[in-house]
Amino acid sequence: MSTRTVDLASFHPNKTVALQQQRGAGQALPYTDAAWIDEHRIGLDLTYLFEAPGDPHPMRHSDLEAMAPEVLAVHRELKQEQGDVKDGEVTMLGWQSLPQRLTDEHLDRIRQAVSQLSARIDAYVSLGIGGSYLGIDATVQALSHLHFNGLAREERGGAPEIYFLGQNMDPDFFRDTLDMLRGKRVGINVISKSGTTTETAIAFRILRRLLEQTHGDEAQRMIFVTTDAVKGALRGLCDKRGYQSFVVPDDVGGRFSVLTDVGLVGVAMAGIDIGELAAGFLAMKRRTDSDDFWSNPALLHAAVRTLAWRRGKKVEVVATNSAALYQVARWMEQLFPESEGHGGQGLWVSPSMYSEKLHANGQMVQQGERNLLETFLRLERFNSEVEIPTDPQNLDGLNFLPEAGRDLGFINRLAIDGPAYAHHSGGVPNLTISVPARNAFCLGQLYFMMERSVAVSGRLLGHNPFIQPGVVDYKNAIFALAGKSGHEERRARMEQEMGQRQRVVIR
Ligand code: PA5
Repeated sequence: MSTRTVDLASFHPNKTVALQQQRGAGQALPYTDAAWIDEHRIGLDLTYLFEAPGDPHPMRHSDLEAMAPEVLAVHRELKQEQGDVKDGEVTMLGWQSLPQRLTDEHLDRIRQAVSQLSARIDAYVSLGIGGSYLGIDATVQALSHLHFNGLAREERGGAPEIYFLGQNMDPDFFRDTLDMLRGKRVGINVISKSGTTTETAIAFRILRRLLEQTHGDEAQRMIFVTTDAVKGALRGLCDKRGYQSFVVPDDVGGRFSVLTDVGLVGVAMAGIDIGELAAGFLAMKRRTDSDDFWSNPALLHAAVRTLAWRRGKKVEVVATNSAALYQVARWMEQLFPESEGHGGQGLWVSPSMYSEKLHANGQMVQQGERNLLETFLRLERFNSEVEIPTDPQNLDGLNFLPEAGRDLGFINRLAIDGPAYAHHSGGVPNLTISVPARNAFCLGQLYFMMERSVAVSGRLLGHNPFIQPGVVDYKNAIFALAGKSGHEERRARMEQEMGQRQRVVIR
């Protein structure tokens, strides 16, 4: 049997590893340089949006133009913090001013706490769900090596391994993740604004017990808590045990919280420059404060999606050609439906990785029911150059690619351009958000653009996009079924209704 192993000497060095090492060495990207900023502006391309042939209810340029006054009215209202935007007594528009409110001192405090914990651990576990999970995972995945935990620490730029728990309640997932922690020094960050979310609370119980068994009284040094400044069970526990704590601002909802401590701590733990992320947010905030409809990408994005809904579209496929950005599409899958899905309204968001999905539900996008809008997240510059070799026999007929100097990244960009044309021809209007590169500045812009977009589209649909009463319904149903005290009445009602329901079970 051969004992030879694969050698990658003929490949270009992996730039993602190099970038992580540069970050670890404290080298910042020039995100204050005007030319660099200009090169890294997020773009919006509506070329294949209008008049899709075969679309029974096509979208027209004039329709979008006609929406400008109502979109601008909502935009101005939000900037003035008016309209149906409260959760209880709190105006949930804190995310609008976050990019300006973040101080260097605050970012430094996070960096310092993170570097102290990082030096004590091999693996960091972030506990949370929904807005207390997705933005962190999306940012780490978008800006890091896609097999981050499999690299040597030095290749990760000195960052510990990063894991997530509490985002589901699957015991197999939980146990398998615990296996990855065996024999390692572990630190955790429990993130819950309310402090009462079942998934997160259970994960915290288990991990806290594990750390207490390992470290005794010293366990407290391995635990971060991110929660409300004054309210909730976690805050109480935190004060009692003396955990290092971070704050979720009262006026920022979970899914809008990626630029708060919720996102910043985990992102900093992965070695990502949180100053650069904040600069991206601020750049997009300034750009989208504008009342010029046709040059404001957040307003155009909101108008397009609202128009699509009014034209009978039900599903928005959010497709990307970047495995790194796939989690960002999943972050959008939360941000938009959780904000828009009220009163029988809103687009279902379906994240997709192209070209993989082009060999699956791509058939339906091309020829299924014409109720789709498609949004592409097109990564323009990949970190890696992977050349396609020439083959003397050329049996697959692909020599034309290397002969024309085309590499894998070239073909992969066509995995957006080809479908944009073909799907439009087949009756699916589409738009492209172009992301110049995998860096925190681009991602910060994208996040703010999406947050502003959904605030506007939610208000255009006529409801409050900053609350999620439907999520509370499911939480209560689980509490009642699990027998939590305070839910006895609901449990009795549910049992009665369930008892009356005819059971249809085939085994
Ligand atoms: O956007 C939201 O508000 C939700 O998705 C929450 O982030 C999610 O339910 C988790 O809530 P919490 O942070 O209170 O545990």
